[in-house]
Amino acid sequence: MKKLLYTIILGWLLNTPALANASLIEEKKCSVCHRLSQEEIEKKGPDLFYAGNKFQSLWLEQYLQNPKTIRNAGTSHNTDFLKYEKDKSQKHPILSKKEARQMTEELMKITLPAVPEKMDSLKPLTKGKKAKTKYEFERTFSCISCHQSLNLAGKVRGGISGPSLVNAGNRLQANWVASWLKNPKSFSEKSRMPIYKMDDETRWRFTQFIMTLKNKNSQ
Ligand code: HEC
Ligand code: HEC
Repeated sequence: MKKLLYTIILGWLLNTPALANASLIEEKKCSVCHRLSQEEIEKKGPDLFYAGNKFQSLWLEQYLQNPKTIRNAGTSHNTDFLKYEKDKSQKHPILSKKEARQMTEELMKITLPAVPEKMDSLKPLTKGKKAKTKYEFERTFSCISCHQSLNLAGKVRGGISGPSLVNAGNRLQANWVASWLKNPKSFSEKSRMPIYKMDDETRWRFTQFIMTLKNKNSQ
């Protein structure tokens, strides 16, 4: 009788998805530094509870094997902000190719249902609109005071208090960028990014502009 009970309990345990299918995110303890749900308190690293909305999977898989610095001044919730050591990226866990593939699959499944924009159907920016948006990015809205981007000669320039946007076009998903620009605080209450009162046309133009920023030489 006792044996039967054990068998039933064991069977139940093995059928619980979390145990039967061990998650690499849990195994690697990524949640020590990253929020995997919005309910948690803010952590040292950037949020991953909308990873599947935010990142392009190809970029993600490469990054996990070879993490490069995106936030030169640390992250908003990191107490070492502005004192962050230069070689901090070296301390980020590095995954093998196989692990990176599995981790990417797991992360791409973590999505928010409420990232609704559909940017795919928009026509690419004309040369004129791109120049206009670049001007606004640098002057009108001064995004460049906090974000690195590329100048006409392809050189990196801009402030470092926000994440670098130099490779945003290979790294981020357009729909997510558009939602972020609408209201960064809907993702993180503590976001230090200003809320811009942009009309939709401007916001989509900015999104498309950001998606043209691509670093050909590195991630
Ligand atoms: C010791 C803390 C720490 C741990 C543990 C950690 N990370 Fe990170 N992670 C960070 C920090 C800090 C950054 C930001 C680095 C930067 O922007 O330059 C980061 C950045 C990232 C990014 C890029 C996010 C973005 O928005 O740019 C991803 C993806 C990521 N980590 C995934 C993981 C995964 C998967 C694990 C588990 C294997 C993990 N991290 C474990 C601290 C950590
Ligand atoms: C006062 C500084 C500041 C200004 C100005 C600013 N941002 Fe940000 N931005 C941030 C910070 C800081 C973050 C990182 C997340 C956080 O802490 O909110 C961020 C995040 C972002 C992200 C998401 C990047 C990522 O990898 O997570 C995008 C896209 C972005 N900003 C675009 C813009 C655009 C476009 C403008 C101008 C219209 C702009 N930002 C102006 C500070 C700024």
